[in-house]
Amino acid sequence: FATHLSLNNAVTIPRLGLGTHRSTGEDVKAAVLWALQSGYRHIDTASIYKNETEIGQAVRDSGVARESLFITSKVSPYEQGFECALASVGNILQRLDCGYLDLCLIHWPGAAKLKLQSEKNRELRQETWRALEKLYDERKCRAIGVSNFTVQHLEGLLSTCAIKPAVNQVEMHPYLTQASLRDFCTQKDIVVEAYSPLGVGNLLTDPVVCEIAARRQRTPAQILLRWGLQQNVVVLPKSVKKERIKENIDVFGFSLSDEEMATLNGLDRNHHFCWSPDGIL
Ligand code: A2P
Repeated sequence: FATHLSLNNAVTIPRLGLGTHRSTGEDVKAAVLWALQSGYRHIDTASIYKNETEIGQAVRDSGVARESLFITSKVSPYEQGFECALASVGNILQRLDCGYLDLCLIHWPGAAKLKLQSEKNRELRQETWRALEKLYDERKCRAIGVSNFTVQHLEGLLSTCAIKPAVNQVEMHPYLTQASLRDFCTQKDIVVEAYSPLGVGNLLTDPVVCEIAARRQRTPAQILLRWGLQQNVVVLPKSVKKERIKENIDVFGFSLSDEEMATLNGLDRNHHFCWSPDGIL
């Protein structure tokens, strides 16, 4: 079972990364160090998480070579527009102090303080994308992509962009399987990344997940992560606890049967634990 996927520009991405939303200060520093010691080589952050300085520090303290790491960050909805996005990524690079980004994403299809249906959202997304294309050309980002984009947002972007997005990072777990969005992304050669693959922890007590976990002598988290990996997506579980960080990467030594996969897919209820981007023009 491959540990990496290939993006549409041939850059390779580890299929499992550490999520860091709501991890800050000393907690996130320790989490990144434990993750790197446990074999993680992929860290996912965002300007809005306010933890890039600590993550950069932990990465440098770890002694792991920069070239063997995959670091993602995201331009926040407060920083959309051509000039703002360029400045945003400049600040991200300064805070991380790790030379370059492996992947830079537009965090959210809408811009802060705009109404969902405002035409301006579309315009700002296009301008933000132009900034990411420039940063890609300047080799400040090895790959560029988006997050929380629906099929409609992707269609708009694909019709105007010069460089195609490599990735769409969305909330995904068995209660929100994202089947049609994933089909669309596969057709367009866009890799899907799953954030909150444990449903922000809510799926860890689901009886169906627990039953499969007990039968397979694995933990509920491992079942959920393995389900994501077998759908060909990148999974980004968040934890700040050492044992859980280790547990979450121990998912390459077993596989779920077609029947178990189908049972988990049957839990789909189109339920977002995080914000839904539906309705943003
Ligand atoms: P903590 O950071 O205290 O470990 P998601 O990645 O779906 O957003 O889920 C993150 C939530 O799940 C966090 O509250 C995290 O808490 C918790 N969590 C992460 N990994 C595990 C695990 N292996 N077992 C139990 N809870 C976990």
